[in-house]
Amino acid sequence: MNYQWYPGHMTKAKRMMQENIKLIDLIIELVDARIPLSSRNPDIDGLGAGKSRIVLLNKSDLADPAQNKLWKGWFEGQGAHVLEVDSRSGAGIRAISPLVQEACREKIERDRKRGIVNRPVRAMVVGIPNVGKSTFINSFAGKACAKTGNKPGVTKGKQWICLNKNLELLDTPGILWPKFEDDEVGMRLAFIGSINDEIIIMEELACDLLRVLKDLYPDAVTDRYGVTWQEEPAEMLGEIARSRGCIRKGEVLDLKRAADILADDFRSGRLGRITLERVP
Ligand code: G4P
Repeated sequence: MNYQWYPGHMTKAKRMMQENIKLIDLIIELVDARIPLSSRNPDIDGLGAGKSRIVLLNKSDLADPAQNKLWKGWFEGQGAHVLEVDSRSGAGIRAISPLVQEACREKIERDRKRGIVNRPVRAMVVGIPNVGKSTFINSFAGKACAKTGNKPGVTKGKQWICLNKNLELLDTPGILWPKFEDDEVGMRLAFIGSINDEIIIMEELACDLLRVLKDLYPDAVTDRYGVTWQEEPAEMLGEIARSRGCIRKGEVLDLKRAADILADDFRSGRLGRITLERVP
């Protein structure tokens, strides 16, 4: 199946991002911990050159804890400051403020040498659609006050949320467009539900997912549905349909319904904590 997908508004989003990046010191980049590479656009490295960088492994509650550790180390090796977070529950969020200070130490030091003290760090949240940007901003900013940008140096109309005396957050996140370098990237985005299911043939998606799970987490599927692995993914989907009673009139297996169940179970974590990408 061809998972290519590129909504037109992404070009506009990129322009907005280029404008906003000029205003900030720090980029807080959200990636999906289940697919840390496929859920980011490496162009952010160029766009954000010269800015401090924090990478948040969001939805870490759905990802494999051992893999979260490995990915944290990998991103740190790339020069980023990294945290595992669960924006929905708020786990990990409290550790961000101290990390901001650490990530921006050079800027703070530069300011101090110029006699500027207590100028808050300005940050922007970026990430691909559905990675959790809004959930994160709500969780991180909580009841913090939003103030309109009417002071010098702040473009008119921009809203800044002051989190504390050291940190201001742009209230609108930057939307990154996924990068479809290869079909695998599109496929993984479809697995986590970041591609409109309406353009996807669910039975094919399910077979692709089964192929990957057989390789990486074989027990997750057999334990959940009480089935044994079959040679072909389509046969396995049939087993799941049988085990879940997805049977239409005339004893025909309803593979579409079985595929929906599998996708839903994976996306909501009912198959367990699963990471689909390994560190390079
Ligand atoms: P976006 O702004 O980047 O587009 O993403 P958004 O915050 O809208 O989040 C997309 C979905 O991901 C939401 O689920 C949200 O609840 C969920 N989410 C965000 N962060 C986390 C996380 O750390 N862990 C988990 N498990 N889920 C997270 P939804 O189903 O679209 O909405 P809802 O059912 O939660 O209301």
